[in-house]
Amino acid sequence: MAQAREIQVGMENSPLYIHEHHDVCDPITGRVMTGSWVWDSALILSHYITTRAYHEHDFSLQGKTVLELGAGLGLPGLTASKLGARRVILTDLGPLLQGLRHNVDANRLSDRVEVCELVWGTNELPNQLKGSKGGVDVVLMSDVLYDPSLMGPLAKTLNMVCGSETLIWSASEVRDSTSECLCQLTSHGFEVTELPKQFIQHSLCDMETSNNNHIDNFGVYLIRPLKQMCSP
Ligand SMILES: C[S@@+](CC[C@H](N)C(=O)[O-])C[C@H]1O[C@@H](n2cnc3c(N)ncnc32)[C@H](O)[C@@H]1O
Repeated sequence: MAQAREIQVGMENSPLYIHEHHDVCDPITGRVMTGSWVWDSALILSHYITTRAYHEHDFSLQGKTVLELGAGLGLPGLTASKLGARRVILTDLGPLLQGLRHNVDANRLSDRVEVCELVWGTNELPNQLKGSKGGVDVVLMSDVLYDPSLMGPLAKTLNMVCGSETLIWSASEVRDSTSECLCQLTSHGFEVTELPKQFIQHSLCDMETSNNNHIDNFGVYLIRPLKQMCSP
């Protein structure tokens, strides 16, 4: 059953229409897939990329190529498209792709937003990303930092798509496993910087999150391949 939500993410009079499909199940386990609904981290990341704090640091999305990993319903990627990204690629596990395409169409963004399957750690990137090393300007990831055992595969995928200038933005609910996930990414060659909480305060005040709505419960991170830090 799909439930439509109209979500305002900082851009006045320009809501996004997101359909949550609560009945998308993993064909092997039969469990409802976690990408079937919008997580608060997706709201926070989407709000954050619309803020002055984001744009003042010259992180504009205008004309950029943006990849979203573990996109679920695709809210941050769709927001990036509305903010002027030239090309957005929303990726997740196979059963979630139909819902992602539905949300692209619902927002009339199919001329700029593509959807494809991307399982972290795969040896072969989807056609949409083949030869893309360095061609992805920004990677968005919301609520994917929960299982340390998935961080190796995630880092492998990031290494395959990121060039020396790529910026990775990740928002996460802070759980017991979050710091271990961040350590894993660091050990796989990424530098992680947590944004000062005031940068997300505005987003939290402004939006309809669940009851867990307290600034200490969330983190927004800028993640970069370490080799970027060595380049002049
Ligand atoms: C907690 S949900 C977050 C969904 C969405 N980003 C949001 O914030 O609303 C985690 C997402 O990561 C995806 N995911 C988990 N493991 C994955 C893997 N190995 N490869 C690709 N995606 C994966 C899930 O399918 C799910 O969409």
